[in-house]
Amino acid sequence: MRHRAEKLELLIAEEDLRRRCRELGEEITADYAGEEIHVIGVLKGACVFVADLIREIDLDLSLDFLGLSSYGSRTESSGVVRMTSDLSVPIKGRHVVVVEDIVDTGLTMKYLLENLRTRMPESLEVCTLLHKPSNAKVEVPLKYVGFEIADEFVIGYGLDDAEYSRHLPYVGYVPQSES
Ligand code: IMP
Ligand code: MG
Repeated sequence: MRHRAEKLELLIAEEDLRRRCRELGEEITADYAGEEIHVIGVLKGACVFVADLIREIDLDLSLDFLGLSSYGSRTESSGVVRMTSDLSVPIKGRHVVVVEDIVDTGLTMKYLLENLRTRMPESLEVCTLLHKPSNAKVEVPLKYVGFEIADEFVIGYGLDDAEYSRHLPYVGYVPQSES
């Protein structure tokens, strides 16, 4: 029963997630003052974060989603990325902010940014809730980062363990002996 939440250690509490969403929302609001932004949430992991974040942004804003799935083992990214669903509208000429749950090796985000750049947005920035800098394999420009974390496999607040536990309102990790 590895998907049961009671074996998790708390990493980021609900109130800290809420506070950080508010700060990031204020930062984005200030940075794009007078502009419209087009937010792209990366499914499925960013579903919870993007819903909380956009409610803290005070700008004209439109929202779209795309789905990505990276092949690999449970805890290791292979860098081979599959687009499971594409955007519903073009992004040409728009100020795009990509919202992701976590940047680990950076391979998924590198693939995504290269793909989106070919569609000629006016600007393209990334807001990720979590970043594991110790695992980086490629450099990706991350303008907004919620929390830098150690190399733990984290779950909750949209992040899954083999599709389970996305609904947890906090971010936790499985202690090594339990995983
Ligand atoms: P990448 O290694 O930066 O390419 O990350 C690939 C994908 O792996 C991310 O978009 C997440 O969906 C997933 N991932 C990476 N680290 C974790 C984690 O600690 N928990 C859950 N999913 C993760
Ligand atoms: Mg993801």
